[in-house]
Amino acid sequence: MPNARRRRPQIFEAEVLAGLAPVALAEARDVGLRAEPLREDAIHLLAKGALRLVKGLRTVKAVYRLDHFDIPRPKAMLGDQHFRRLVATVGAVTREDAFQSFRFGAAGRESKVMQRLADALQEATGLRFDPDDGELLLRFRPSPEGSGWEVLTRVTPRPLSARSWRVCNMPGGLNASLAAAMNRLSGTGDRDRYLNAMCGSGTLLIERAEMAPASQLTGCDLDREAVACARCNLQAAGMVDRVRLVQEDATRLSLPEGGIDVITADLPWGDAVGSHQSNLDLYPAFLEEMRRVAAPAARMVLLTHDIKLFEGVLAAQRSWRVVDVRRVYHGGHYPRIYLLRPEA
Ligand SMILES: C[S@@+](CC[C@H](N)C(=O)[O-])C[C@H]1O[C@@H](n2cnc3c(N)ncnc32)[C@H](O)[C@@H]1O
Repeated sequence: MPNARRRRPQIFEAEVLAGLAPVALAEARDVGLRAEPLREDAIHLLAKGALRLVKGLRTVKAVYRLDHFDIPRPKAMLGDQHFRRLVATVGAVTREDAFQSFRFGAAGRESKVMQRLADALQEATGLRFDPDDGELLLRFRPSPEGSGWEVLTRVTPRPLSARSWRVCNMPGGLNASLAAAMNRLSGTGDRDRYLNAMCGSGTLLIERAEMAPASQLTGCDLDREAVACARCNLQAAGMVDRVRLVQEDATRLSLPEGGIDVITADLPWGDAVGSHQSNLDLYPAFLEEMRRVAAPAARMVLLTHDIKLFEGVLAAQRSWRVVDVRRVYHGGHYPRIYLLRPEA
């Protein structure tokens, strides 16, 4: 039965920003993967064969191959049978991507046992042990089921959320997996006229451009440096010709009335970017301007951490109604994602 054994699906654990597990599950199932909820910040995936589908997920931070070892403590990993299985696991992952080095991510990773394991793995795999910057990340943890240990082997040299298009970063830059999730929540139609207001380095815009066709993609920011930064990233993504970038005030756009189907924005949170005081004027003026440019059936997805202020502004206006709100963990904060529709 060797073929049947080989075809058994492998379990993977995908790390997500806490709050995004339902979005990641939906994405994984849409591309044909079997996916199950695990924790607020992780989902399980089952996949056979090549890892193309798993590595193509946009709303997850990183994906690890998950292997259970029936051992009482990591030292037993040095035993012949378990060590050979560990080397085979490393071989299966490194066969698919270019890895030069490895590191451990585990409590006690500097212990003598882990040093011995590093030496043995270095010799058996030919990969260099680089404790700080190793590309292949191996994590060891006691099995949550109570007996044995789990080895999590990250399937890519960098986390999936570290996009190759990001050549320019800005303070307040959005995690790309969160941007992808916001775009999914907005719904993507091939004929969408899409606006990423206050685009900063262009994360939402580029993620949307890479996700699906659109009939129009526009990004705007008041800040010249932000527009230049977004342009660099768009160039790196090979998308610069598909997108219109403008340096404009998002409360006074040069766009005509009613011509936008989807709006996304990561608003200034009033801490590292902007100020709570300026948000008092900015947020209501922005909602009014977005209502002017939005088509009657438009969808708008906004992210902010200035929650009290934003909810007060929402309560005082009649242009938009809230369809969905979710809390997400990002950069040490819990901002909220709002899905809004124009009021009739
Ligand atoms: C939180 S940052 C956006 C970061 C972006 N999501 C990224 O990934 O880089 C908010 C952006 O809003 C821009 N901004 C603030 N007020 C604006 C306004 N009135 N019109 C247009 N852009 C504005 C700032 O210049 C800043 O780039």
